[in-house]
Amino acid sequence: MTRYRPFYTIALLLSLWTWVAPAWSQQQLPDKKSEQDIAAKAVSLLSFVAVDYPESVDDSVVRDRKLYRQQQSNVEVASALLRQLPDRPGRAQLQDSLKELARLIADRAAPDLVRRRANTAADRFAALYQLPRSPAESLPSGEEAQALYQDRCSHCHGERGSAAQPERRLDDPVRMANLSLYDFYNVLEPTRNDAHNSAVDSDLSSRQRWALAILVAGFSAPEIAPAPQLAEKYPALVGLPGIAVLRPAELPQEARDAILWWRAHPAETRHLQHPLARAAGLLYLAQNAYRGGDIASTYHQLMLGLREGYLESRPQLAQSNPALAAQLDQQWQELRVAILDQAPTNEVIEKFQRLQGNVVRAREQLQPTSGGGIYGWGALLFIAALALGAALWYRLRRRRVGSA
Ligand code: HEC
Repeated sequence: MTRYRPFYTIALLLSLWTWVAPAWSQQQLPDKKSEQDIAAKAVSLLSFVAVDYPESVDDSVVRDRKLYRQQQSNVEVASALLRQLPDRPGRAQLQDSLKELARLIADRAAPDLVRRRANTAADRFAALYQLPRSPAESLPSGEEAQALYQDRCSHCHGERGSAAQPERRLDDPVRMANLSLYDFYNVLEPTRNDAHNSAVDSDLSSRQRWALAILVAGFSAPEIAPAPQLAEKYPALVGLPGIAVLRPAELPQEARDAILWWRAHPAETRHLQHPLARAAGLLYLAQNAYRGGDIASTYHQLMLGLREGYLESRPQLAQSNPALAAQLDQQWQELRVAILDQAPTNEVIEKFQRLQGNVVRAREQLQPTSGGGIYGWGALLFIAALALGAALWYRLRRRRVGSA
């Protein structure tokens, strides 16, 4: 036990911050929140272009004029929202891709192309404005929302989403596979989506919305649980943020079926995730929260990453690579101090990235991956998300340095 003492000291200090962290939430910039609300609304509009366009245009012919007009308006509104947001490196490119998307829709381009472009634009929007697309806590169970669904939703959407009117059905596997859990969540947020009038969902808590999203995801989920080995092959599917953000339809078939089931049963994914993969995911979320100016949630995710991720693997790591374990202890500590001392943002981000890199390295050591192409694909997806954030950050810094 005594061997790990410095480490437990860090853990103890970190747990003390749970009490301190709320004080930091006041530091959150007031316009940051509304910035994220605007971005979230645009992301929702674009996601619905992706899912609705294939139902309105087929073979270059408009099948549903009203729905088609709706997509055009969604893209226009998303562009207008983007103009309201502060300029960031990458905004001009995003503006161009929205113009291109509008042109594709006007030309009645192939549904697959429009779907991909709309989803890409939504993802870029989220990255550019550091939109958190996962819950601050771990995902609740869908059962938690069962009574709420009976009470508030089933009279319109039917038992388990089986409404008679097609536009109210929530159990069509093809349509639902085009939407992420985060998209379902957003539908239930009246400032972001006008599918419902405010009587339906304006007083729901964030946790209730996630629980409803998970319950709804269950209406179109396969009945059989995926083979646990798939979690090793596609680590991004069993942890945050992947499980909340990925659209099943964009994944290879076996991964698609797996996430359709896992996202409806998040409690069953916990033991499938390597603790260090969990730590890496939580560090990613912490970094995202930090960039978004939300210090309280930065702490929260950092703590979770330490306690529910790193701590669980630490004894094993200390056996196989004591030097790396010692280095990681120190890096968690340094990051903590940097945030505590309100160190310059670029320093904090660098510490985040160094720690993150070592967590990924440690995971490779404890559970070497087969190096197979498909595994690499899952890991790549995750790394791509990180790299996108890093690239944006780098450009931002360069510009600041240049203008100083
Ligand atoms: C008054 C009827 C009504 C109630 C109550 C209602 N909805 Fe809806 N909901 C709709 C309609 C209509 C749509 C489609 C809106 C559109 O296409 O613009 C919709 C859309 C949705 C969607 C998006 C589905 C898709 O395929 O695009 C989800 C998810 C959803 N509702 C979930 C819920 C949940 C969860 C509740 C309970 C909190 C709820 N709804 C309550 C009528 C209702």
